[in-house]
Amino acid sequence: MPGLNIKGMDLSPRRDTLDPIEIASRDEIAALQLKRLKWSLAHAYANVPHYKQSFDAAGVHPDDLKTLADLSKFPFTAKDDLRRNFPFGMFAMPREQVARVHASSGTTGKPTVVGYSKNDLDMWAGVMARSLRAAGCRPGMLAQNSFGYGLFTGGIGFHYGAERLGMTVVPVSGGMTERQVKLIGDFKPDVIFVTPSYALAILDEFRAQGVDPRASSLKIGMFGAEPWTIAMRAELEEAFDLHGIDNYGLSEVIGPGVSCECIESKDGCTIWEDHFYPEVIDPFTGEVLPDGALGELVFTSLTKEAMPVIRYRTRDLSRLLPGTARTMRRMEKITGRSDDMMIIRGVNVFPSQIEEIILKDARLSPHFQIELKRQDRLDALTVVVEARPDTADNLWPACNADMAGRVKGLIGITVDVRTVAPASIERSLGKAKRVVDLRGK
Ligand code: DLL
Repeated sequence: MPGLNIKGMDLSPRRDTLDPIEIASRDEIAALQLKRLKWSLAHAYANVPHYKQSFDAAGVHPDDLKTLADLSKFPFTAKDDLRRNFPFGMFAMPREQVARVHASSGTTGKPTVVGYSKNDLDMWAGVMARSLRAAGCRPGMLAQNSFGYGLFTGGIGFHYGAERLGMTVVPVSGGMTERQVKLIGDFKPDVIFVTPSYALAILDEFRAQGVDPRASSLKIGMFGAEPWTIAMRAELEEAFDLHGIDNYGLSEVIGPGVSCECIESKDGCTIWEDHFYPEVIDPFTGEVLPDGALGELVFTSLTKEAMPVIRYRTRDLSRLLPGTARTMRRMEKITGRSDDMMIIRGVNVFPSQIEEIILKDARLSPHFQIELKRQDRLDALTVVVEARPDTADNLWPACNADMAGRVKGLIGITVDVRTVAPASIERSLGKAKRVVDLRGK
């Protein structure tokens, strides 16, 4: 693990540069949340027909919220509600007053559209700048922004946050991997913003060009937008000699900037609770779970004007943990999305569990895909994983057997493993596609 003094730069946190609320007392944070939550519920109810209908149907009114715990009386919002109101039906202000829209890619069905007022954009740049500062970034640092620009919130969200903090931004976006490596050599960025899976593709390109990634100028990698494991962090930190910082967000809530790890603790993302109120629920019953319990993350926006979200179900599985580097609560590293969970002969399996096991084997690379098939009316799983370039192909059968044995021992399911040649699995330029569903094919 790299130290806070890295490549001639001291990244130790400076407490005096934090927003006071980041280290305010829990009572102060709760008082602010309650005040803002009352406003947000009233704003949504008064201006978005969907919330008026759903609150009325549940027999609740914004005035019923007297304490933070009363939020549990209010109905959830799901992605489907956004789809039903496509494109602008969830906006709480006339479209003419909305300064910007973003949208999700919409791989399944209609995309979801989100809107931002001028104040929302200001708040977003603020929470992004706060995230970057927590990650060790400083004014004057140079950042290569390799998140995709466009309707995706990653590129533009990071761009404005970095500018707000006073960094110099190179808006390269995702793709053209050879050039990514060249730009790192030429401009010498201190920081890269990128998905962990695309960071791996950039790493391979360094090696293909015969350039030592550890000798690069990079000191911090802001990795997010997809699930990744602690084992993957170790892999990337070791390969580039940088700090890999997890950061989390979703378009419906704001984009990136909902929560971010602090460089001094790297123990899960601190949630910017003064803008996004978190809950964890039992995904089956909807019951609110106590802090520390594993369940589905739910967020309520506290300050958003153009598109408030009330109890938005993220489908992401995590736990709420007490604050460490800040007084605000943390979320445990996401185990997976309930949508990505595979059930193999009754056992729940996430791609992240497979990733962790692969990374324990020095002969295998972190590039992998999971093929989901139907066999004898049951789901069956094949792990396709690339060998590392220095693993001779006569060793692949042993890799297959060892990997299958570990999956059986650690997860308890029988899988097929197919070790394949380096560079044979398609690289993503943004979020990796880990599961290929071949059922019904
Ligand atoms: O991915 C926002 C983002 C951009 C976050 C850049 C961080 C960095 P969406 O495209 O709406 O927004 O996808 C949101 O991605 O519900 C999670 O399932 C997943 N996700 C995002 N960050 C993480 C993370 C952006 N750090 C969905 N760990 C979320 C695990 C993540 N999953």
